[in-house]
Amino acid sequence: MVSSCGSGQKASREPTLKDYFQDDFLIGAAIPVYHVDGMDPKADSIVVLHYNSVVPENCMKCEKIHPEENVYFWDDADKFVKYGEDNNMDIIGHCLIWHSQLAPWFAVDSLGNDVAPEVLEQRMKDHITTIMTRYKGKIKGWDVVNEAIEDDGTYRQSPFYRILGEEYIPLAFEYAHEVDPDVELYINDYNMAHPAKREAYVKLVNDLKASGHRVDGIGIQGHMGMDYPDMVELEKSIEAFAGTGAKVAITEWDMSALPTIRETANVSAGETLDMSQFQNPYPDGIPREVIEEWNRRMGEYLALFKKHAKEIDRVTFWGTYDGMSWRNDWPIPGRTDYALPFDRSYELKPFLKEAMQN
Ligand code: G3I
Repeated sequence: MVSSCGSGQKASREPTLKDYFQDDFLIGAAIPVYHVDGMDPKADSIVVLHYNSVVPENCMKCEKIHPEENVYFWDDADKFVKYGEDNNMDIIGHCLIWHSQLAPWFAVDSLGNDVAPEVLEQRMKDHITTIMTRYKGKIKGWDVVNEAIEDDGTYRQSPFYRILGEEYIPLAFEYAHEVDPDVELYINDYNMAHPAKREAYVKLVNDLKASGHRVDGIGIQGHMGMDYPDMVELEKSIEAFAGTGAKVAITEWDMSALPTIRETANVSAGETLDMSQFQNPYPDGIPREVIEEWNRRMGEYLALFKKHAKEIDRVTFWGTYDGMSWRNDWPIPGRTDYALPFDRSYELKPFLKEAMQN
């Protein structure tokens, strides 16, 4: 795109991701509170220039926004929503019902025992209603339920499932829809290319819709590595999810460039492994052949997403540049990873530069 300048010459404007993807899908990033607070101006320039959608990395999660039963902490979420509004972005809420980063009080009584089902139902309803009401009309859609299904297709044994059984999911969607019949409602998870997990989500969403619940989208988080996910299986999941009638979104895209650690099956987000057992192979810079392979792989997934642009509504990166990615600290704290589309010098990486030239 070009704009006129005073001399009558044409000055070219820096190409942006949101222009490049305008006929495909929304393009966005997760942003942390310090960014909204103005403490990362270079990342801010990236987000404002390139993205048309934002999601909060942490500040709307239960332990942050609802730390005690009668205490809500709004400051950070309010600032985040204002940031999205000021920049005319589609704002996504993340996330209402999730086992991880759940406030410690949420599912237990004063003795630390599981609460009765009706108590948890009421707490879920209050939580969803209070938060969604505050941002009604400002947020495009909410991750209502996050990470409910294991990779083998069984329900995750979260406090919600343990106390309420499968019913907690339709209840969450029902409560959310009651607050705002116009807002989009999503279900979101990682490892969505696993066949059993795919089938479980297709069944779950079909069942929800058949029982009259509004479900607008299925989020494929898209946390990737140098040897996963399988491209063919991922495409099958995009197609199968679209087959439910829901929109598909890639909600948390990043790719670790470090060797995949398989021993993470029982490491929840927020927990870490003992650093000494594993390598931090590229603390001072990533070898050329590794970053070339990383870009090649990201380019292939991007081509897949573009191929399915009719089914994919939004692609959101889980962060802006390598230095701020959660992947530097999980499953081992203090590693140097290279997971995001902008590098530590805030430079756009080749897979996107090349795509934008075509
Ligand atoms: O804010 C505290 C800080 O005060 C404290 O000094 C520091 C010490 O550990 O912790 C800080 O909190 C950390 C928080 O991120 C903010 O940086 C938590 O320990 C850390 O556990 C938390 O990690 C977040 C993780 O979710 C927790 O589950 C990541 O930033 C966030 O990127 C990640 O995002 C999740 C999505 O919500 C759902 N899908 C998976 C994705 C990656 O785990």
